[in-house]
Amino acid sequence: MNVYEAATKRRSIRRFQDKPVPYEVLEKCIDAARLAPSGRNHQVVEYIVVNETKVLATVFENIGGSAKLPPEKGGPRPDQSPKAYTIVLINKALEGDASRRRITLYDVGLAAENIILVGLEQGLGSCPILMFNEANLKPALKIPEEYDIALVIAMGYPDEAPVTETATTSLDIYVDGKGVRHVPKRKLADIMHSNRFA
Ligand SMILES: Cc1cc2nc3c(=O)[nH]c(=O)nc-3n(C[C@H](O)[C@H](O)[C@H](O)COP(=O)(O)O)c2cc1C
Repeated sequence: MNVYEAATKRRSIRRFQDKPVPYEVLEKCIDAARLAPSGRNHQVVEYIVVNETKVLATVFENIGGSAKLPPEKGGPRPDQSPKAYTIVLINKALEGDASRRRITLYDVGLAAENIILVGLEQGLGSCPILMFNEANLKPALKIPEEYDIALVIAMGYPDEAPVTETATTSLDIYVDGKGVRHVPKRKLADIMHSNRFA
C-alpha cells in the first residue's frame, strides 16, 4: 500500500473483528508517531497503548459519540468493540507555558495520522475519538496529574467497510439499511484553489 492509497482509502472504523492486536503492531505505530513533525521539536506528546481485555473495557466505558452508538445506528455489537487503543497524552511539564497548546495540538494531529496510517498498513482500522471522559480515564489508567489526555484512538482489525461518497448537500455520515456506513467528502474542485483564491 503506497502513501496515497493509505491516505485516500482510510476511513474511520468503529466496528472491529474479535481478534487481538499484538503489542508489536502498536509499537510500530507509536514509533512512527515518535518521528512525526513537532513544533520547535519539543516532542511533548506521549502514548499509552492498550490491548489487555480488562483495560479495553475500562476505556470503552469512558468513550462516547458514534463509536458507542447502538449497532443499528452504526455502533459496534459487544464483540465488535475496539481491540486496542492509543491514548495520546500531552506532557505538560515539557510543554511549559500553556500558550503553547495551539502548537501542541498540531503535534497531536500529525502524530495521530502517523499512527492511523502505519496501523492501516498493518491491517488495522482506527477511529480518532475526542469524546472521552478524562476525569475517569486519568485515574483508571494511572496517568499522572502533569499529563492531559489529548485524544483516544480506537483500533482493531476492521469488521466494516465504510463507503466514501462525493458530498452533495449534507456532510453527515449515515448508515444504510444494510449497515454500511457512508462518508460524504467534498469535491476536490470545491476545496482546492490554484495560485489565488478566485
Ligand atoms: C478531531 C476529531 C475528533 C473525532 N472524534 C470522534 C468521536 O468522538 N467519536 C467518533 O465516533 N468519531 C470521531 N471522529 C471521527 C470523525 O467522525 C470522522 O473522521 C469523520 O466522520 C470523517 O470520516 P472518515 O474518518 O472515515 O473520513 C473524530 C475525528 C477527528 C478528526
